[in-house]
Amino acid sequence: MITKQSLNPNLLEAEYAVRGPIVIRAQELEEQGNKIIYCNIGNPQALKQKPLTYIRQMLSLIEYPELMNKPEIVKLYPKDMVEKAKTILQKHPHGTGAYTQSAGIPFIKQAVADFIHKRDGIPTNKDYIILTDGASKGVQAALIALLKSPNDGFMIPIPQYPLYSASIKLYGGKQIGYFIDEVARWQLNERILTESITKAKAEGINPVAIAVINPGNPTGAVLSYENIKMIVGFAKKHNLSIMADEVYQENVYDPKVKFYSFARVMHDLDEKDVSLFSFHSVSKGFLGECGHRGGYTEFRNIPPDVMAELVKLQSISLCANAVGQIATFLMVSPPQPNDESYNTYVIERDAILGELKTKAEILGKEINHIQGMSLETPQGAMYAFVKFVLPDDPDVDIKSMTPGQRECYETKRDIDYCTTLLEETGICVVPGSGFGQLPGTLHFRTTFLPPKDEIQEFVDKLKIFHLNYVNRLNESYKSSHTN
Ligand SMILES: Cc1ncc(COP(=O)(O)O)c(C=O)c1O
Repeated sequence: MITKQSLNPNLLEAEYAVRGPIVIRAQELEEQGNKIIYCNIGNPQALKQKPLTYIRQMLSLIEYPELMNKPEIVKLYPKDMVEKAKTILQKHPHGTGAYTQSAGIPFIKQAVADFIHKRDGIPTNKDYIILTDGASKGVQAALIALLKSPNDGFMIPIPQYPLYSASIKLYGGKQIGYFIDEVARWQLNERILTESITKAKAEGINPVAIAVINPGNPTGAVLSYENIKMIVGFAKKHNLSIMADEVYQENVYDPKVKFYSFARVMHDLDEKDVSLFSFHSVSKGFLGECGHRGGYTEFRNIPPDVMAELVKLQSISLCANAVGQIATFLMVSPPQPNDESYNTYVIERDAILGELKTKAEILGKEINHIQGMSLETPQGAMYAFVKFVLPDDPDVDIKSMTPGQRECYETKRDIDYCTTLLEETGICVVPGSGFGQLPGTLHFRTTFLPPKDEIQEFVDKLKIFHLNYVNRLNESYKSSHTN
């Protein structure tokens, strides 16, 4: 029988905090009958977000076309849906049970290209689109394709979504973390980027790409046009490809900011040298169809022979799942104003986005009132990265620690905080160390996906918990010092 030691050490070392030990403990507590508020993962429908009727009605017809032969059932569906389902099945007569073309069903790739063209007003080519099993597989394919040697490095934001750190570890590349700037609303900072790439090069690492998450996970920040321009210039200067993770592009709540895609900014700059991989997904936005595993990667400034290799890479796992591809089609081709299904679609979409906005505002307002806690009110995405301060332990001399020792110490502190929060209140969040954080700071990440009353319950419980936790720490430091 194989043992843990017989496994790939890269697998053993890879960490994925959003489903880590705290979540496992939460599940145990739930099985014992405790109420848990799951704020650990961006899984909207698991947190009671309703699927859009449009998506579910259409998928039901595509999955079981025989329904369209039964008049008593057909009358339950808006007319435009039935017509659209028939058109889809005409264009893809094999249905959802057959493998598709490796890069995806051609008419869906065309619909994705049209969506990008409409969103950004830029030329788009369907042959530079690959449909994927969620954005995760697109990101991983980009890493695999770009990683030539164990010394190749990927610049990733700190804090980041751990898909990046874990996949880089898994594939045996190097992670080059760059801090994003909490005091500047989590924008990227050219000086910090330069420092981190210079340090990596001095350590013998060969940087090949920079990953950027916009809107941000875990920060909820939306990058400005100018910031994206700076990043494109930085990538060009250092000969890096850009991996633009844009899965939260529909989740922008602050009317003062706007989502700009890297594709659009690069087009405006007439940038022809920097290769771009941009990722989108059906998992987020107002669809929240995480389980359907749909998404796409769009490529720019990629020569045709490289594109052929990228399609070959996708073909090694045959194709993305067909239902996910259909869900991607539905995401990029919503009902139009004359369609019978349009009103319901708009009402449901606006309700979901409106509720997310309200919950982001509740968190921003309430958490900033808790002494020792602060938060940039999320402008977008589904997360808040909450900063908290704990009293210093008089018996611990942080200044004499190495950076590694300090990181371990701070990781232990935020894990203990989040574990105690779970045990005492049932609130399940992810420690900041799971995403990375600036030395000397502590955070946790929470989603604002649970229903509004649970978000209110969350902040009420958090207020009391934080005060008690800090008081207990103070007491224990005092007594260990006097003993
Ligand atoms: C920034 C970011 N990228 C990618 C993903 C993965 O999305 P998908 O479900 O499309 O694989 C997530 C999921 O939470 C995410 O937050």
